[in-house]
Amino acid sequence: MGLKDLLKNVLTKEELSLVKRSFDQVGSIAQLEVPEELKSKEKIIAEKVLHSFKNIKTVVKKSDITQGEYRIRPVKILVGEKTTETLHKENGVLLKLDLNKTFFTPRLSGERLRVLSRINKGDVVADLFCGVGPYSILIAKFSKAKKVIMNDLNKNAVYYLEQNIKLNKLDEKRIEVYNRDAKSFKLKADKVIMNIPKFSESFLKTAFKNCKVGGTVFYYTFANDEELKDRVKEIKRAGDCRILRKTKCGDIGPGTYRWCIDFKKL
Ligand SMILES: C[S@@+](CC[C@H](N)C(=O)[O-])C[C@H]1O[C@@H](n2cnc3c(N)ncnc32)[C@H](O)[C@@H]1O
Repeated sequence: MGLKDLLKNVLTKEELSLVKRSFDQVGSIAQLEVPEELKSKEKIIAEKVLHSFKNIKTVVKKSDITQGEYRIRPVKILVGEKTTETLHKENGVLLKLDLNKTFFTPRLSGERLRVLSRINKGDVVADLFCGVGPYSILIAKFSKAKKVIMNDLNKNAVYYLEQNIKLNKLDEKRIEVYNRDAKSFKLKADKVIMNIPKFSESFLKTAFKNCKVGGTVFYYTFANDEELKDRVKEIKRAGDCRILRKTKCGDIGPGTYRWCIDFKKL
């Protein structure tokens, strides 16, 4: 059921028109985006959501912006259990995380399966901005990669990553975990995952430096259709490569999207 249907008896028609059609669910936490005009109604909305879904234990409100270099979008608890830590299940992977200490969005679950499908037997995979591990744990669990290198600068993300490695019973011989600046690596990976769209350009050199010739980079960036052309030019200026594919993986505002540009280093 959509959020608008659910709230039809508690909000006026005008108020309903301001409500988003749906909400994100991470583990047992429902994440609402409440416009300023509905601030006085946020508790009523949250109560309705909490009591309508058995598997939701906490309802939170997302803040307007994703903040800082750790890319956290803080949440405020509206009703339910007073915790922002939860256990999320996605693509057969268990992910423990805290919404106020780490980045996480469930909206990339399909995109993560796409990247998984590009991993070949024997690949060395480097996920240089891995967060709590939704890409790299999926890949370590379900691909025949030889090694998966997982790194994030946020020590809280690495704390949960290490728990998630255990929760998913990964073969620790195939994994390396780091808590470093991605710029400090010098690898020769077959596949490099660069999921830092907000600052993508400042890590282009890092992408080329850590990918072996013939390897593939999954380069995430934010752009509208026009800016996407500039992003491609920036990539080509940074090193010899062939663009393999551009995948739109969700919108982040009117006309602006999160893209993954896959390119092969030549
Ligand atoms: C957009 S999030 C992506 C996380 C994860 N890949 C996911 O899909 O959930 C970007 C991540 O990059 C990390 N980060 C930011 N700057 C970094 C740096 N210089 N080196 C390594 N990690 C960094 C942040 O802490 C954050 O977890």
